[in-house]
Amino acid sequence: MGEVGMKRGSILLIAALTATGIGAVMAFTARNADSADSQIFGGKLPAGYRDWKLISVAHEAGKLNDLRAILGNDAAVAAYREGKLPFPDGAIIARVAWSYVSSEENNKVFGQNQSFVAGPPTNVQFMVKDAKEYASTGGWGFAQFNDGKPANIVAKDCYSCHVPVKDRDFLFTRYAP
Ligand code: HEC
Repeated sequence: MGEVGMKRGSILLIAALTATGIGAVMAFTARNADSADSQIFGGKLPAGYRDWKLISVAHEAGKLNDLRAILGNDAAVAAYREGKLPFPDGAIIARVAWSYVSSEENNKVFGQNQSFVAGPPTNVQFMVKDAKEYASTGGWGFAQFNDGKPANIVAKDCYSCHVPVKDRDFLFTRYAP
C-alpha cells in the first residue's frame, strides 16, 4: 500500500468507527427514549405477575383515589426479606391498583359507612432490575400497562420521582411483615 492508499485506508477506518460510534449512541438513545417503555417485557405483561407475593399495600387519595398492592417476583421478594441492597438483576416489582370504592353491601352489615374495597383496575406499573441495561435510570426499567396494553411513559420521568429513595434502591415501598 502506497502512502496515499494508507491515508485513504485510515480515513475509511475512522469513518467506519465514527459511524459505528454514532450508531451505538443512536441505539442507546433510542432504547432510553423507548424505555417509554413499550419494549420492556416485549410489550406484554410479564407472565404470572398476578401470582407474585405480596410486599405491601397502599392507598392513594386525591386524584388517584385507589387501593394498590405491591407484588414481587421471587428474586425481588427474597431481596426484600433478606434486606439485600441493591436488588439483583432479574428482580421485578409490580404495582397493581384498583379504584377505591365504597361497599354498600359491607356497610350494611357494619351498620355504618366504613367499608372501601377494590373497584375496577386502574393500571399496572413495573420496575425491573437490570443494572447494565437501565444504567441511566438507576438500574431499573420502568413500564406501565393500561388495560393490559403497554403505555407510552417516559422512564426518566418515573425515575426522577423515585430518586429521593435512592438509598433504598429507588423503592418507596417497605416490606410489610
Ligand atoms: C410523582 C412521583 C412519582 C412518579 C412520577 C412515579 N412514581 Fe412510582 N411511586 C411513587 C411513590 C411515592 C410510590 C410509593 C407509594 C405508592 O405506591 O402509592 C411509588 C411506587 C412505585 C412502584 C412500587 C415500588 C416502590 O417504589 O414503592 C412502582 C413499581 C412504581 N412506582 C413504578 C413507577 C412507574 C413505572 C412510573 C412511571 C410511569 C412511576 N412509578 C412514576 C412516586 C412516583
